[in-house]
Formats: sequence, structure tokens, C-alpha cells
Amino acid sequence: MPGFDITQTPAWAHLLVHHEHIADAHMRHWFEQDHGRFARMHERLDGMLVDFSKNRITDETLQLLTELADAADLAQWRERMFAGDKINLSEHRAVLHTALRQPREAVIEVDGVNVVAQAYAALDEALAFAERVRSGEHVGHSGERIRHVVNIGIGGSDLGPKMVVEALQSYADAGVQVRFVSNVDGAHLAQTLQDLRAETTLFIIASKSFTTPETLLNAEAAKQWLLAQTGWDLDAIAPHFVAISTNLQATSAFGIDNRHVFKMFDWVGGRYSVWSTIGLPVMCAIGRAGFMQFLAGARAMDEHFLQQPWRHNVPVLLALIGVWYNNFFDAHSHAVIPYDYGMRALTEYLQQLDMESNGKNVTQQDLPVECATGPIIWGSQGVNCQHAYFQMLHQGSRLIPSDFIVPMNSHYPLGKQHQVLVANAFAQTEALMRGKTLLEAETELLQAGKDTQLAAQKVFAGNQPTTSVLVDAITPHSLGMLIAMYEHKVFVQGVIWDINSFDQWGVEYGKVLAKTIEPELAGQGDAQHDASTLALISYFREHHVS
Ligand code: F6P
Repeated sequence: MPGFDITQTPAWAHLLVHHEHIADAHMRHWFEQDHGRFARMHERLDGMLVDFSKNRITDETLQLLTELADAADLAQWRERMFAGDKINLSEHRAVLHTALRQPREAVIEVDGVNVVAQAYAALDEALAFAERVRSGEHVGHSGERIRHVVNIGIGGSDLGPKMVVEALQSYADAGVQVRFVSNVDGAHLAQTLQDLRAETTLFIIASKSFTTPETLLNAEAAKQWLLAQTGWDLDAIAPHFVAISTNLQATSAFGIDNRHVFKMFDWVGGRYSVWSTIGLPVMCAIGRAGFMQFLAGARAMDEHFLQQPWRHNVPVLLALIGVWYNNFFDAHSHAVIPYDYGMRALTEYLQQLDMESNGKNVTQQDLPVECATGPIIWGSQGVNCQHAYFQMLHQGSRLIPSDFIVPMNSHYPLGKQHQVLVANAFAQTEALMRGKTLLEAETELLQAGKDTQLAAQKVFAGNQPTTSVLVDAITPHSLGMLIAMYEHKVFVQGVIWDINSFDQWGVEYGKVLAKTIEPELAGQGDAQHDASTLALISYFREHHVS
């Protein structure tokens, strides 16, 4: 579709007109007048309920948004992605994270190779290794059992497995504690290792490229830490270091035994790779059965995404409603609030998934995008966020749509705590939708026997959109569904904006610049810089004590 511009389609024009009509309408009136609203605007699937009704949408909005999906040829793009077409045009790669959760017998060919078989061969090796670690069959150099697994990686080689291991902590049943080091700030590695013993620690060096400087520096420092504790015996490296990478040359140069390198493939992007061998830390924590349930959950969402009409397709609806706010209401950000302590790293994970994917301003045909693309993703765990920035959601001046993710059951049932947590989540969505009028504020003050002078300060505009995603509990299966749901949401939005959601040239640019400056901090090299950057470099040289 050369030169495709979604803003020039009739569907976009219809939405602009429709927005004029309903921009000022208040959801509280819609709820008062229409008792069937929730019934029509929620979806249930496989232990999940998604409530879209507290959004600034009508049936007509949804109809027009689905026309937008058709205008962008979403069905064809979806088919191409699942079939392994090279839809990552700038890197000439297939986008096949969905192949990682296909049934074993499925066949998807890329360049004549069945990638499903390829993926299972790698997965089986990783799962078998994880089981050996969990059972104590794989031991350290001194013959001791592995008690700690430290994953060293960054971006997609960190955020997914870290979030999943934390979220599924109650499933970690083998006495193996998994930790994550990503930051090249020495504090991260040093603090992570300070209470560990080399003899009982296994390092996973996770890097698709095995060229990421942060990861390689931390891996080298970890190697030195291990060698220092094992009498500088080089034989100690093999049982304590494994890698996940596409770059076997670099892993063997690092000293990692080839039998302990778990393969990745270039048809899986870093931020979509938690389903691959990058999930090894998850496998070590929850084991083979749990990991297979995690994949099955994602597959259930894939099937839903493939089969449901747009109007009942959860990831598509999330995406379209997101476009509605982003492009027609000019909302700049989108908050995600998991009411689950284990899911506290979800937002960080989604920041990479969404912003590294859709933070683009050039179309697939190299033309400028004519509308705003991916929103700023932010948020943190409920209820803590209520005592921090929720004031802004309630009485600030910006439209901030948000997702509330709420499990119906906790793995840690302590007294009434879970009810209180859930009550808070539901109460927030209600308050954000309804708001409070001046009359209501005055009445409340009068009923409390107080002066009504404060009433204006206690008015809440409401009409702040939320989507509630309820799951029975955070399990490997439901977490797989949730992550796949967001992956597909991001994909659909990328299709609408006609951007490549699967490359990340902006990040690559930053990496190159850092490589130039790093030697200059040590007084070597004299690349051209602006006055500010030159001054910052020389300030470092003056003040750094080496
Ligand atoms: O942050 C940029 C990035 O390229 C991500 O896309 C990727 O997940 C991360 O770096 C880590 O890359 P690697 O796995 O190759 O070390």
C-alpha cells in the first residue's frame, strides 16, 4: 500500500465528525440513560473479563473504529505476521513471536525452514537444562547445588523474564531464587551479588546480539567475581555460565560452552522474546509445566485475536480505543495500573513493548507519519499509585486513559487484604468515570455539617476513561494471555499508523553515540561535539577520581 495515510481515509474523516458530536458528552449520563451499556461493552474469554464500558465511546464510535481497522487492512497484516512474511521491512525480517507458542506440530516456513520445529528444538534444550538446575542434577564447580540464578541482560533480554518471574513468584517451587541485573551501573551487579556465593550461583548471559556493551561488561565483571572466589580456576566458568544468543561466535569467545548456549532467532524481536529461550530464568523459577502453561495462555490470546470480529476482539478494541484517545482526543499518555504486587514491573515491561515499538514518526514507506503515534506509557502498582499521582487523574487538566488490571484472587490470602485491594481498584474506576458535581460536593459538605465554601475544590470532572481487565488470578496461563493481549494491541496500532513496530533505530543511534564518548571520558579521541556535550565531558574528566 504505497503512500498509505490513515488520516486521508473516509473512516478517519467520519471519526473526526463523530468526535465533534460526542467530545463533550459525559459517561455518567450514558450510564444513567443506558442500562445495557456494560452488557454491550465488555468481553469475556478464558478466565478474563475486559470492561470497555467506562470509555468515552458509543456503539457508533466502535463501529467507526472498526472501519478504521478495515481501512488499514488489518486482517491482511495480521495474516502476514502469523504466516511469517517479512513485515519488519527495515530489517527485512519476519515477526514470529507467535510461532513460539504454536502447537508443536504446526508448520510455519521462513526461507524454507520450519521455524516452529526450530523454536521447539531450542525450547526443549532450555527446558531440559532448567529442569536439571531445579532438580539439582546440574551442579556448580564444587559439586554444590545451584541456589541462585542471576540473569544478566537488558531491554528485551531482561524486562520480560524479570516481570514474569516476579509475577509468578508463588509458582517458584524448586528453591532456586532468580535475580536480574541489567544496569551497567556497578551498583546493580554488586548489590545483587553481595549475599551470594559463587559455588551456588548460575549466570545466564542473555543477549540476542551478544554485542550489547552493558550486558557484556556486567558478564565480564560476573566472571571475575566467580573466578576470584574459585581460585582463578578457568574450569569453573563452564558450569556457572550459560548464554542465550543468536551469536555463537561471541558466546564462545566469552568462554561459554557451546552446549550451554540456548539459541534465539532473528525472527523474534527482543521485546517480544519472553516466550523464547530468553524465558530461561522463568523456566528455572517455575519449571517446564508452568512455562508451557504460560505459552498456552499466549496461544489462547492468539486464537482470540485471529478469530474474533473486530467488535469483539479484545486486543483490537484496546488498540482502536487507544487510537481514539491518542488521535482524536489528543491524549498524550496511557497509564497501566496492575492491582497486584507481583506485577509491579509490568509498566516498565510495557514501556519497552509499546514505546520501542510505536515510538516512530516514519511510515513503512519512509514518509512522515501524518498523525501522533504511540503514547507515553506509564503507571505503577495499585494501590500505591493512588497515594502518589492519582490526584492528577482525578483533578488534573489532562485526559489520561488507563488500564486497571485486577486479579480476583490472591496467591497470598491474608485477612481482608485482597478485598481492600480490589475495592480500591473498582472505586477508582467508578470515581474517575462519574466525577463529582458542584451540587454533590455542596450536599456532602452540608450533610457533614461543614461550610460549603470548599465545594469548588472538591469538584471532580470525571469522564476520565478506564478499561478494567479482570483475571481469575495471576497464573502462568492468564499472564501469557495478558502479555499477548498487549503485544497484539501494539501491533494493531502500528498497522493503523503504518509504522514498523519491530525495529528500533532510535535506540541503535544512542548506542553508537555512547561508544564515541566513552573513550573521550578517559581522555582518548576527539570527536566533534556541541559546546554543551564538550563541557560535560571535560567536567567529568576534572571531577572523576579513577
Ligand atoms: O534497547 C535496544 C535493544 O536493542 C532492545 O531492542 C533489546 O531488547 C536490547 O537492546 C538488548 O539487546 P540484546 O539482547 O541484543 O543484548
